[in-house]
Amino acid sequence: MVQETTLQVSDFIFPMFIQEGTNQKVEIKSMPGIYRFSLDTLLEELKEVTDLGIRAIDLFPNYAENKKDKYASESYKEDTFYLKAITAIKEKFPELVIMTDIAMDPYSSDGHDGLVENGEILNDATIEILGKMGLAQARAGADILGPSDMMDGRIGYLRDVLDRDGHTNISIMSYSAKYASAFYGPFRDALESAPKFGDKKTYQMNPANKREALLEAQLDFSEGADMLMVKPALSYLDIIRQLDENFDIPIAAYNVSGEYAMLKAAAMNGWLDGDRAMMEVLISIRRAGAKCILTYFAKEAAVILNR
Ligand code: PBG
Repeated sequence: MVQETTLQVSDFIFPMFIQEGTNQKVEIKSMPGIYRFSLDTLLEELKEVTDLGIRAIDLFPNYAENKKDKYASESYKEDTFYLKAITAIKEKFPELVIMTDIAMDPYSSDGHDGLVENGEILNDATIEILGKMGLAQARAGADILGPSDMMDGRIGYLRDVLDRDGHTNISIMSYSAKYASAFYGPFRDALESAPKFGDKKTYQMNPANKREALLEAQLDFSEGADMLMVKPALSYLDIIRQLDENFDIPIAAYNVSGEYAMLKAAAMNGWLDGDRAMMEVLISIRRAGAKCILTYFAKEAAVILNR
């Protein structure tokens, strides 16, 4: 009766990985219990996911190295497997919210979120590519676009591109405060998308900065973002709280791959009670102020919440 914070299955967005081919279900080494699916096995998995009451997924593609190039051109090819998969999922699960990721890294031969020239990221040239990517995803049937690239000005540009093509109902969940974090390691294993050189510190945020998160969020808000995201979640609960106090749109938090991996590792060693630790982590993200949580724990937590 006096509990202040609640957690519901409908708070979750389940990040999932897809690869080309058929009959594939490959476990990610650093993420026990999380798989890369081909479209056929993904559709089977989605039956289970939706039966648990999970209403939203965030779908990430794994592209073979030979499909990658400097310009991430595979990302907006009409017949590319990722876009076709979005359309197929939407057809079979019309009620399921499909979120997509906008950044060049899974399609880039440089493994960076933006276009690289002479070892530097070109902000404005990247935004044009992201616009094409976002439009292609919207046309394929995505409901929420998640720009995770951290270029400046991309939210306004994307909103404009979407609106001019008639996609006024598509939401943008902006990765506003995305930190240059060690906790993305397992995700980059899943997508085989680690940067080929350097790091992402020229566009992702310094973990030491808090005021800068407000500035990033303010820009995204004023450019038309519908939701703001903080990523990672656990080392940045103060940032979640800060954004929730300052913006009257929903705040999301990404409980990232490394946060999943470290808890799983401890639980598998018998060093922690995995279920209890998972539920404590998830409620703490809600308590900090996140309305929704992107989490690889979505299925496991749903099983517990549905009991
Ligand atoms: C792509 C992207 C990343 C994640 C989500 N979108 C990796 C990165 O920025 O290097 C990380 C998610 C996770 O670790 O679970 N830009």
